[in-house]
Amino acid sequence: MIKIKDNIFWVGKKDWELRKFHGEEFSTHRGSTYNSYIIKDKKTVLVDTVWTPFHREFIDNLEENIGLKNIDLIVVNHTEQDHSGSLPYLMEKLPNLPIYCSKNGALLIKRHFHRDWNINIVKTGDSIDLGDNKLVFVEMPMLHWPDSMATYVAGGNVLLSNDAFGQHYASPYMFNDQVDQCELYQEAMLYYANILTPFSRLVKAKIKEITALNLPIEIIAPSHGIIWRDNPMQIVEKYDQWASDYHEGTVIVIYESMWGATKKMALAIARGLENKGLGVKALNMGKYDKSDLIMEIFKARGVIVGSSTVNNGIQGDSAAMLELIRCLKFKNKIGASFGSYGWSGESVKIVETRLKEAGIEIVAEGIKVQYNPSPEEISACVAFGEAFAEKV
Ligand code: FEO
Repeated sequence: MIKIKDNIFWVGKKDWELRKFHGEEFSTHRGSTYNSYIIKDKKTVLVDTVWTPFHREFIDNLEENIGLKNIDLIVVNHTEQDHSGSLPYLMEKLPNLPIYCSKNGALLIKRHFHRDWNINIVKTGDSIDLGDNKLVFVEMPMLHWPDSMATYVAGGNVLLSNDAFGQHYASPYMFNDQVDQCELYQEAMLYYANILTPFSRLVKAKIKEITALNLPIEIIAPSHGIIWRDNPMQIVEKYDQWASDYHEGTVIVIYESMWGATKKMALAIARGLENKGLGVKALNMGKYDKSDLIMEIFKARGVIVGSSTVNNGIQGDSAAMLELIRCLKFKNKIGASFGSYGWSGESVKIVETRLKEAGIEIVAEGIKVQYNPSPEEISACVAFGEAFAEKV
């Protein structure tokens, strides 16, 4: 147990070894934590659990430090398995324990566990008196699941925000004033870019709604990573900025190359962008971590994508990246495509179509080169980069 404030404690799990999340989808370079909380008052409340593989030590820890029979109710802010995975094991021990969750949470608990438990549905503004503290619920649908909810502990003035404001970041420490700020913000941004980008409009609306409530918030305790106790509103302000069609005015050139020709084009295009004074990164999609690439795209205003043509199509990592980009629904980004080919040359059009489907505005006709670019064609790629720079 780690004391968060007065009678509010962290009872979660640090997962130092986690390297992939959502299956093999999302890279977690610094591990993660599954944050569960206990509020000890006249009633004792557990908020969320931890991921399934850690259920035994989680429950043993609760038994040792709290005593399972002393838990009066559990709040399920979100049913994704990283937070609800230990729930069925806990409910085996405490079958009548009242569960509080959103309406969608009740449906999703049923879909995940297929049991009849003592479910109590709450909506925004509903509250439970605990004695000195009061729980107030705030539904946060699609941030990032339909069931997502935050729980505000009035009295302690702690917002248990679930996934929002979290990071996949295991550290010896639990509070934002104790950790490396660059690491913290890098992980917070990686998390936002890869998970919350499609919901940015909802993020902005929810921040407005919560701010209008004028709640005194002394601590924001998310369900992953570090807890914000030093100026907790800094991460809310940052989310507001990230949710506002964020970019840093840079350009990213991402490419995949069979024999190096598309790579030569990529580097020449990057040179053209640099000639115009822009910050640019040229990164090989086959070699660079995809979650990191998504964060680079999140930061960029321009996204230029290149793939060699292979079997009338595009290369595999390019296809995977373009699908990720499409699903994340980035806003306010411009793009273009390029690539080398041998005889058919479809890649440039395919990439361009995928970028359009992703909502990226195409501001230049794609450029393609047969086999290996000549010095004149390299110059054309440099000019392509310079022309693109004018649109950024
Ligand atoms: Fe951390 Fe959406 O679960």
